[in-house]
Amino acid sequence: MSARILIVDDEEIVIRSCRRILDGDEYLVDSAQSGQEALRKVDESDYDIVVLDIMMPGMDGLEVLQQVKEQHPGVDVIMVTGLSQIKTAVQAMKLGAFDYLPKPFDPDELKHVVERALERRRLLEENRSLKSEVDSKYRFENIIGSSPAMQGVYRLIAKCAPTNSTVLITGESGTGKEMIARAIHYNSLRKDNSFVTVDCATLSEHLLESELFGHVKGSFTGAVANKRGMFEVANNGTLFLDEFGNIPLATQAKLLRVIQEREFRAVGSTSTQQTNVRLLTATNKDLKALVADGSFREDLYYRINVFPIHSPALRDRREDIPALAFHFLKVFCNELAKPVSGISAGAMSVLMNHDWPGNVRELENTVHRAAILATDNIIRQSDLASIVSPAPAPDLDVPRTSDDLKRVKKIAREKSVEDVEKMFVLETLRRNDSNVTRSAQETGMQRSNFQALMKKYNIRVRDTELDSDETEPT
Ligand SMILES: Nc1ncnc2c1ncn2[C@@H]1O[C@H](COP(=O)(O)OP(=O)(O)OP(=O)(O)O)[C@@H](O)[C@H]1O
Ligand SMILES: [Mg+2]
Repeated sequence: MSARILIVDDEEIVIRSCRRILDGDEYLVDSAQSGQEALRKVDESDYDIVVLDIMMPGMDGLEVLQQVKEQHPGVDVIMVTGLSQIKTAVQAMKLGAFDYLPKPFDPDELKHVVERALERRRLLEENRSLKSEVDSKYRFENIIGSSPAMQGVYRLIAKCAPTNSTVLITGESGTGKEMIARAIHYNSLRKDNSFVTVDCATLSEHLLESELFGHVKGSFTGAVANKRGMFEVANNGTLFLDEFGNIPLATQAKLLRVIQEREFRAVGSTSTQQTNVRLLTATNKDLKALVADGSFREDLYYRINVFPIHSPALRDRREDIPALAFHFLKVFCNELAKPVSGISAGAMSVLMNHDWPGNVRELENTVHRAAILATDNIIRQSDLASIVSPAPAPDLDVPRTSDDLKRVKKIAREKSVEDVEKMFVLETLRRNDSNVTRSAQETGMQRSNFQALMKKYNIRVRDTELDSDETEPT
């Protein structure tokens, strides 16, 4: 894309010579002969660079510079000054000019300074996009799932993120507790400072304390140098203590002290250090039960349980399964460079009916495995062998009274009709490669009626985003 440049000078001849110098495909040059005209043009168009004469009748260059920088801080301004105007040039730099060019300048000088400005713009742009890439990774828009349970979680994240409150994230393994913690940090005022995670389950008491608080050289065998603790590393940022339920009692006492006094002591040190961290904690254990059996301090429990967020199990929000499955499928297809474009109805029904003891992590691994196994472009039931479980037994109570018998018979009838209908739809779709039009034709049903059945059983063939070979007549 060509760089857009505005030349501002009251002398026509200067404008013409600049145009000659900046002639070429890489520049798009425009001009203005007064300050007012320049401001109007800057308002209307999207310039990268303004080359601005300081000495102009009417509104002078400094005034124009000031207004441009106020209203369009992203535009780079190069000032053109007379030889005797070095003082003014310095002032212009203070007002935010990119650089200045003494008149008369030769063509190379102008080209050079314009190129430098453009180069800096490119770097800034690159940094911005890198940063937004990092940011966007943990925005909570990245957490997939729109079930009511997840919407409740999003509301809580949004509420607590801007505060400094300690948050306790509970939930089974693999439900996304760490994602929630990151979302809180990256939506908080601390987002530009560090987010540090300590996994409290994998370290012995000794190593955990040195990890959290640091140690001084020689404080124990192996402490060959001073080590900064994570309370220091995360200063002004967020410290996420994962598997919080596994912390030994002695360390719990020390943590309580940090939370209360906002200061800590490195292992082997005699002096204390101040810390300003926000603490997020997560556990898949029932902390209350741990408190009851004496393995977790009650006072610490109350300190960290200020703002609890529960991360719901996947089986309690099955409606999120298709979106998650398609999301992981897309990620893996990119990774594996293997174009798996869909999930067959049968496979989706397996995914929907599985209980997911390992939650989203298990679903992620299952889709990954299936994407590798898939022989054509679709994940099929046979690619999910690892989780296929026998059909659940119908869970109907044995009736005890005649009324009960009627009720249960009615339920049983409805249920078996539903089962037959569901199998009918799923099997037809499977035979027809998930093509709804062909499925309807094969069964002799109207397409709309067939679709109504699909809707009744919440059967979706493919994510529309990934859907490439099926055009939906409307
Ligand atoms: N809602 C979600 N959307 C997208 N990916 C998710 C979601 N929830 C979890 N994941 C993915 O599932 C995996 C497990 O998530 P995470 O590590 O946050 O879970 P956890 O609750 O901390 O598990 P554990 O208790 O085992 O540490 C990660 O790869 C994460 O990216
Ligand atoms: Mg975790």
